[in-house]
Amino acid sequence: MKRQSLAAEAVACANIALAKYWGKRPYGRTDNLPAVPSISMTLDRLRTVTHVRIEPARRATLRVRLDGVEADETTYRRVGRMVREVLRVAGLPTTSAVWVDSHNDFPTASGLASSASGFAALAAALRVAAGLPHDPVEVSRLARRASASAARSVWGGFVELPAGDRRTGDRLAARPLVGPRHWDLRMVVAIVGRGPKAVGSREAMERTRRQSPLYAAWLRLAPRLAREVREGLMRRDLERVGRAMERSTLAFHATALLADPPILYAEPATIELLRSVWRLREEGRSVWATMDAGPHVKALCAPEDASVVAETLRAVRGVRDVLTCKPGPNLVVRRVDR
Ligand code: DP6
Repeated sequence: MKRQSLAAEAVACANIALAKYWGKRPYGRTDNLPAVPSISMTLDRLRTVTHVRIEPARRATLRVRLDGVEADETTYRRVGRMVREVLRVAGLPTTSAVWVDSHNDFPTASGLASSASGFAALAAALRVAAGLPHDPVEVSRLARRASASAARSVWGGFVELPAGDRRTGDRLAARPLVGPRHWDLRMVVAIVGRGPKAVGSREAMERTRRQSPLYAAWLRLAPRLAREVREGLMRRDLERVGRAMERSTLAFHATALLADPPILYAEPATIELLRSVWRLREEGRSVWATMDAGPHVKALCAPEDASVVAETLRAVRGVRDVLTCKPGPNLVVRRVDR
């Protein structure tokens, strides 16, 4: 008998939060519900391509390769969970063999949001390979359970992930705010170091929630900053978005720093980059910095300032590379014959 083979490929872009998600609702932890709303920009140059093949007639195996290397235990477990969920929904045997092959065109696990584009692409490719229709909201929900920022990588342009609540529960998905053509902005990404992050964001968030005396203040501040970012975005007001974005970054990093033991993602180059962005502002340019769970710095600016910003950041000692990104496109997924 001919074996049935189901395969699909998805391409998703990473996203960088302008208003940060940091911290989960303490209830339903397995649902991975963010404690605060977040708003991101999808980046055109940071892409993940994920290929999935399912063979229902084969005996249970799950192979996960990231950039040609077997995935680590944690990633493997998260992928396995998503695979079982999709097989169940699609009515396929949970004993199906599944192959996942994923490629990033940027460093994995370095705070450059590779889990966001990775889990978004995986969720879309898995569903389509399993014969389910492409439904961005369902993909966003599925991706969110694996990694909440991944829920935002389903759409291009600017995307919001609301905070979780008991009412929405596990149905929580991100939603597109405005497409990539709404506003021609640049995110200049300065890459510092190469290694994986010191503390993964999941563990770091949990430690922050339990230990940091600033966490309650962060929960009060974050929704206000998200509102500022949203309004600034709608009015294309760079100063308003930038100011709220920088405060969001500094607030979450300060909150994490007071966890015990402390969580510090910045390296000397990170601080120097931040100061360079501030100096550019003193010289009259509207450029604003943001950082995630890693040492890199991303600077938001208008297209006409991007080359000066990129040159300035490149000159900082410890910077390995600089990438200038535009608002990126929606995730795309297609069936492949193989
Ligand atoms: C600092 O989405 O990686 O980049 O849901 O635990 O997988 P999990 O966390 P993750 O956290 C991203 C945190 C951040 C801010 C952001 O992207 O909003």
